Amino acid sequence: MFSGKTPDSHTANRLTRSVARHQGTLVDLTVSNPTTVGLTTAPPDLEALRSPANAFYEPDPRGTALARRAVSGYYAGHGVEAAVERLVLTASSSEAYSWLFKVLCDPGDSVLVPAPSYPLLDALAELESVELARYRLPPEDGWAVHTGAIVECVDRLAASGKRVKAVVLVNPNNPTGSSVGEPELERLEETALCHGFALISDEVFLDYRFADRPGDVRIAAARDRALVFSLGGLSKAAALPQMKLGWILANGPAALLEEALERLEWVADSFLSVGTPVQNALASMIGGRHRAASEVRDRILENDRRLRAAFPAGGPVDVLPLRAGWTAVLRVPAVVPEEELAVSLVERHGVLVHPGYFFEFPHEAFLVLSLLPNPSLFEAGVERLRCGIGALGR
Ligand SMILES: Cc1ncc(COP(=O)(O)O)c(C=O)c1O
Repeated sequence: MFSGKTPDSHTANRLTRSVARHQGTLVDLTVSNPTTVGLTTAPPDLEALRSPANAFYEPDPRGTALARRAVSGYYAGHGVEAAVERLVLTASSSEAYSWLFKVLCDPGDSVLVPAPSYPLLDALAELESVELARYRLPPEDGWAVHTGAIVECVDRLAASGKRVKAVVLVNPNNPTGSSVGEPELERLEETALCHGFALISDEVFLDYRFADRPGDVRIAAARDRALVFSLGGLSKAAALPQMKLGWILANGPAALLEEALERLEWVADSFLSVGTPVQNALASMIGGRHRAASEVRDRILENDRRLRAAFPAGGPVDVLPLRAGWTAVLRVPAVVPEEELAVSLVERHGVLVHPGYFFEFPHEAFLVLSLLPNPSLFEAGVERLRCGIGALGR
């Protein structure tokens, strides 16, 4: 009866079962929803959603001109010229990925994604019958993108008859906060042209860069050497995930770019998924994003200080440098498997964090936690975490 694209049964893993049993008593250090962590001084401008223009429906598959001008203004604020003709609006960056997979890939084609990184794409790829392959971000170079690792992966897949149609950059990466550097991107653009694949640069954390390395690229679609799509959206840029609005900024050699945009428009026209009210309110939401984003940044920096105070440098737990994004990564002694550690943190210490394997770290043991929670809750959670890690191996 059913396709193989959705899982047979929802068999929960050990950690999920354990969380379900202890719900209500846990300090959740995985929360990544900015609307639930008490960031209340900059509420969204809901007035903007009351426009009389919302009574009318005149859809434009790429997004209304008014809304795309607002996104163009967002990029102008980042010093990048983003013509409205090169912008396509979506309901989220997840949807942006799925539309790009539809445009770029046939069933069985391959897309390369970084490891470690956010595990968003497995389900999206499965739904589009696309195969994911992972290229390694080297820890010895602060998890930066190395084009050599991508080329190796492309060659290996080509040797087994697979076609790579897109390489995903998560820039900055979640959870490592690392970015692609300019010389590596230049090499990657050459490789993309030569092998005929596109670049998808997930830049949802563009506004949360704390410590870039010299030469780090912020907006890949500011460049036009290869076909490239930069992804962004309100959920992170304005801390408004509930508005469901994301975007794709495309760039590239003229003919390729034109064809890509026409095909994207065709997909967008089949869904018309972005609501009229949020498009009408977009200029106001983007205009008001600075307060919300700066409140989120302050929260992240404050919680990062608390975390470092709890795990001082030189101790058994290494708090990786905070480069960008909303998460912290801890390297902890690999005394027990990560899953066992995460389960015991839930069951014996009442704190929930992500085990590193969830993000495909190359080896154990890493823990990943959100820097968004309310500071007093965060402090309580970190104290539980400190006790739990301190009890390791005892
Ligand atoms: C790197 C990355 N990309 C995309 C998303 C999803 O964003 P959206 O809410 O726009 O779908 C997330 C969610 O946390 C993310 O971490």
